[in-house]
Amino acid sequence: MVALRILGIVLLVLLQRDADSACPEELNPLSLEPPRIVEEYGMEVKVNCTSTFEDHDMIYWRVGNKSFPPVVDEMFVDQSVLLSDWNVGAECKIKLNDSHECSKELEITVYKNPEVISSVKFVQATPEETRYELKCDVVNVAPVQNLTVRFYKNDQLNGTSSFNDTTKTPVNETSVLTFNISTGREEVRIRCEAQLDLGPGGPQLPVISKTYNVSAHYAPELKNDTEDIFLLEDDDVTLTCEAEGNPLPVFHWTYNGVAMLESASSLNITRVNDSATYTCTATNDVGNTSKQFHVHVIKMSMEVAPAAMPTPEAATPPADDCPLTMTPSEIVVRFGDPASVNCSTSATDAVGMGWEAPVGGTGFKSPPVVTWNVEQLKDFTVPSCYISLNVLDEHGNTKQCQKSPNVTLYKTPDTVSVSAVHPGPMVEGTDYQLKCDISSVAPAGSLTVKWYRGNETVFADRIVSSIKTPQDVSSKLNITTKREYNGSIFRCKAELQLGPNGPEFPPSETSAPYTAVVHYKPFIKACPSNIARVEHKFSMDKLPCPAEGNPPPTVQWFYEDKQISSSKPLRRSDSGKYTAVVQNSLGSSNFSVQITVEYEPFFDCNKTYEVEVNAILQTKCEPKGLPVPTLAWFKDGKSMDSSQHWKKHDSGKYLLRATNKHGQAEHTMHVDILYAPEFKEGNSTKEVTLGENVTLDCSAEGNPSPVISWKFSSVANVKEATERRQITITVTEATSTTSVFSCVATNKVGTVTRSVTLQMKDKSSGIPMPVVVGLLIILVIIIILLLLVLLKQQKKKGQYNFVPDSAKDGSSVPMTTISEGVTA
Ligand SMILES: *[C@@H]1O[C@H](CO)[C@@H](O)[C@H](O)[C@H]1NC(C)=O
Ligand SMILES: *[C@@H]1O[C@H](CO)[C@@H](O)[C@H](O)[C@H]1NC(C)=O
Ligand SMILES: *[C@@H]1O[C@H](CO)[C@@H](O)[C@H](O)[C@H]1NC(C)=O
Ligand SMILES: *[C@@H]1O[C@H](CO)[C@@H](O)[C@H](O)[C@H]1NC(C)=O
Ligand SMILES: *[C@@H]1O[C@H](CO)[C@@H](O)[C@H](O)[C@H]1NC(C)=O
Ligand SMILES: *[C@@H]1O[C@H](CO)[C@@H](O)[C@H](O)[C@H]1NC(C)=O
Ligand SMILES: *[C@@H]1O[C@H](CO)[C@@H](O)[C@H](O)[C@H]1NC(C)=O
Ligand SMILES: *[C@@H]1O[C@H](CO)[C@@H](O)[C@H](O)[C@H]1NC(C)=O
Ligand SMILES: *[C@@H]1O[C@H](CO)[C@@H](O)[C@H](O)[C@H]1NC(C)=O
Ligand SMILES: *[C@@H]1O[C@H](CO)[C@@H](O)[C@H](O)[C@H]1NC(C)=O
Ligand SMILES: *[C@@H]1O[C@H](CO)[C@@H](O)[C@H](O)[C@H]1NC(C)=O
Ligand SMILES: *[C@@H]1O[C@H](CO)[C@@H](O)[C@H](O)[C@H]1NC(C)=O
Repeated sequence: MVALRILGIVLLVLLQRDADSACPEELNPLSLEPPRIVEEYGMEVKVNCTSTFEDHDMIYWRVGNKSFPPVVDEMFVDQSVLLSDWNVGAECKIKLNDSHECSKELEITVYKNPEVISSVKFVQATPEETRYELKCDVVNVAPVQNLTVRFYKNDQLNGTSSFNDTTKTPVNETSVLTFNISTGREEVRIRCEAQLDLGPGGPQLPVISKTYNVSAHYAPELKNDTEDIFLLEDDDVTLTCEAEGNPLPVFHWTYNGVAMLESASSLNITRVNDSATYTCTATNDVGNTSKQFHVHVIKMSMEVAPAAMPTPEAATPPADDCPLTMTPSEIVVRFGDPASVNCSTSATDAVGMGWEAPVGGTGFKSPPVVTWNVEQLKDFTVPSCYISLNVLDEHGNTKQCQKSPNVTLYKTPDTVSVSAVHPGPMVEGTDYQLKCDISSVAPAGSLTVKWYRGNETVFADRIVSSIKTPQDVSSKLNITTKREYNGSIFRCKAELQLGPNGPEFPPSETSAPYTAVVHYKPFIKACPSNIARVEHKFSMDKLPCPAEGNPPPTVQWFYEDKQISSSKPLRRSDSGKYTAVVQNSLGSSNFSVQITVEYEPFFDCNKTYEVEVNAILQTKCEPKGLPVPTLAWFKDGKSMDSSQHWKKHDSGKYLLRATNKHGQAEHTMHVDILYAPEFKEGNSTKEVTLGENVTLDCSAEGNPSPVISWKFSSVANVKEATERRQITITVTEATSTTSVFSCVATNKVGTVTRSVTLQMKDKSSGIPMPVVVGLLIILVIIIILLLLVLLKQQKKKGQYNFVPDSAKDGSSVPMTTISEGVTA
């Protein structure tokens, strides 16, 4: 108490010192019990507020806007709070003196556990998976920020949602999760849970949605897609389309392609009279699938004549007159199995009764019941039950009557075997019969014989017979043979159809397989009409389409009307049309194919080629090969442009490379560029004086080197001199006034001519040569004299030396063009 008082004083001092500040938490004398409330909406809770400080003016509660009556002398005050307001606030207050108050607020969480309304929606299906959406509506939940929605797939968490909304009032929230269910038949359980996580005092259990079982959608699937059904005329049949699918498929039927109205998975057909094809199509949102029923109606053929057989009924009065009851009235017994029938009477005036039978007869017994019992029934005689009545007939005899139960004693065949009706192999296209022999079967009239080729039912036959005892019967199968039947296995199955009292599965016996041998004409299966192959690697027996036939045919190949060995590899020269004659005992057929023998490139070329200048880049050297090779030129290791033209100086060594898909070949050769002769100079005219000696040169360049000759009118004073590629002619003492000299240069590419015209200087107008010389000498002397005079005047200045120039006579006219050496 003292301690508390001291604390109170300290507190007061502190508060007075700092009058404006709020009550500090560490000094707050109030504590609440419980300090925190988590409670559902609408509940009422009680809270205690206790003070550690005695000297207060009062303690009181304030809930919402309302203050409750204070207590003055107590250390605590309790209060009940009704949680009917989502935002309710409550605080406990203490008044320490006139100016100071402390308060403590109660933490309240008002919650509302939600309801969950869920639904699942199919979204989409692919072959791999199906998508569903699970939608969970969480209704009326508060506070939503503490809500977690969890989604589960097969009880495993597969997604959560939480909410940030800070509202305290109830809200509705929707969460959706997509589930991908992979394709398969398993069902998957999906659900969602809404959980308020509020800690102690709050709801601990989640609100759980409905669990949905979903599975992947898949297209309808049928067990078999075709079924052959053999029926007798006027039979009824139910066609069943057993399709599985999710969602369950809807069905549509067609009859010979015409739509029917029926939409169930099975179709009842009554009194069938014609063969037809019924198709059922099962459809759902993922896909559809169809099944065909080939209904074959078998028109009956009498194969075994019904033999007259005395039946017990024939000798007895109408059954109705005879007061006997058989239990059971009808039995079906396997040969050698036990049999038992009770015969009872309701007649009161019966004297005695009994069974008459080869085995199990009873003798005359007292009514009302006698039993026929056989441990191993092997006798086909039908037993009969008789009764003697205490009534006299018109002859005064005791009236007797009898009745027989309907006993079917059946025996499965001893053997079932297939054989050919006619000997020898079957031949394609001919009709043929197989026979199914069934020995010792009873009753033959219940027998259906089914024929199979491979695993396919091809025919069914109902044996007609009224004989009850074991007998041998047979069924025949007509086939029009096809070559595909070669090697096919045929079987027949004898099946006893014994009606509703018979065994659940009709007893049957299947024959051993019969392998058909079908002979057919030889032929060559679809073969291309053109075939290209590489030489040495192909021979006709390697043709990708071998001959077929049974018996295996012989094949003879012909090329250019000659028979060839089919194993001989073809060479490059062997391209052409090949004809095969394939033959077996049934016939022969012809077949032709165009063979192209291809080979790698090669060169068959000379070492040297001559080409004319300006021709395009090619020579007569063409590579051989099939397909035609492409050609590339190289000079000094460099590839050349094939559109280039030969130039004068291109003579040299070249490499050719030929390529096709089978290989490559190279050839090196020398190319010599030929060009016509060319003169360096053109035509010219030369003036000469009479009697002068003239030398004329002529040379020309060309490849091959040209032959040069001079042409002129034959005059005595011309001399020819040959010197390498140059011919010089010398005209001594030219006389005639004008003469034309033609120089002709020729090689195998061409011929060129140039002319030199020699013209005499005119005599009248011209001054004769000696006169000219004389005049020139005089002129020179005059000039020298003049120079001497001039020199004398200038002697003081220097001395000059004169060296006379040797004058040319000008008679030799140079006309030479030196031919440049042609590289060879
Ligand atoms: C409040 O305190 C009183 C007296 O100490 C006690 O009886 C009561 O149970 C308390 N109530 C609560 C809700 O704690
Ligand atoms: C939900 O399930 C799918 C398939 O099972 C899985 O791939 C996915 O990771 C799961 N998601 C979560 C959050 O567990
Ligand atoms: C909720 O709050 C978290 C963290 O504050 C934030 O990452 C998230 O995006 C919010 N979600 C929504 C839907 O606002
Ligand atoms: C939530 O859904 C319920 C039922 O559908 C409805 O009555 C209520 O008004 C909704 N509340 C809000 C906040 O929308
Ligand atoms: C409820 O939600 C609020 C706000 O998200 C959070 O602070 C508080 O811890 C939550 N309460 C519990 C018990 O998880
Ligand atoms: C369907 O086919 C299976 C084998 O694929 C076969 O065993 C079965 O007998 C057939 N059913 C019918 C009705 O044809
Ligand atoms: C077909 O006949 C059977 C009885 O023989 C019957 O149960 C079934 O409903 C019939 N189906 C249709 C589609 O009529
Ligand atoms: C015996 O039963 C078969 C099959 O139910 C029937 O076809 C035959 O008519 C019956 N015979 C007699 C004599 O009732
Ligand atoms: C029949 O056999 C063939 C090959 O042996 C097989 O491909 C086919 O599916 C079989 N048909 C039926 C209906 O069983
Ligand atoms: C089979 O062929 C024979 C004659 O070739 C014919 O008489 C018989 O009717 C045919 N049978 C069937 C079922 O077509
Ligand atoms: C090779 O040269 C000879 C003689 O010069 C000629 O007869 C032959 O045609 C040439 N061969 C080729 C492929 O040009
Ligand atoms: C040169 O003369 C020859 C023959 O006299 C003649 O064929 C040729 O055309 C002449 N050439 C020129 C360029 O005149």
